[in-house]
Amino acid sequence: MFKRSLRLTAVLGLCLLTACAQIQSQPVPGPIPLFERLGGSAGVSKVVGLSLTRAAQDPRTQRSFDGIKIEAVQKSLTQQICALAGGGCVYEGETMARSHQDLKIAASEFDALVEMLRQELDRAGIAAGAKNELLRLLAPMKRDIVAAG
Ligand code: HEM
Repeated sequence: MFKRSLRLTAVLGLCLLTACAQIQSQPVPGPIPLFERLGGSAGVSKVVGLSLTRAAQDPRTQRSFDGIKIEAVQKSLTQQICALAGGGCVYEGETMARSHQDLKIAASEFDALVEMLRQELDRAGIAAGAKNELLRLLAPMKRDIVAAG
């Protein structure tokens, strides 16, 4: 009788240990990366494409997009956002200073494009928190993109 309950305790103990080990091996869910909250590659690419297409037609910004292949900028900007927002990409394009220097972009043009991006993020149903996180990441680029003087 004593032997049997000892065996039962041992078996129960083993089961508990196995259960504990299984619980411990479950990955702990971390915070959702910004890139995912922005809709991932497909979502970001769509929002970027819509914003650039608008910018190429809007009288406030269109002059810079004359003769520019929107798809190439869309791809590059999507990759840049993926890299910035924890999506695991490596940005392979030009620096912001170099890719915009010949365009002589004014602050008002920069602000207009950011406004279009904000509106397209809203239209895509992106949460305000994720939208503002992205815009905060892009804001410091203004000094490289806008032409001095
Ligand atoms: C936060 C704001 C901006 C970001 C993050 C951004 C990002 C980029 C990126 C990643 C590229 C591609 C560079 C490459 O592939 O080497 C690019 C190119 C370009 N951007 Fe911007 N940009 C911004 C603002 C603007 C503004 C305000 C304008 C004009 C109103 C503009 C017009 C262009 C044009 C026309 C190109 C293509 C240049 C070329 O191919 O010669 N961008 N931008």
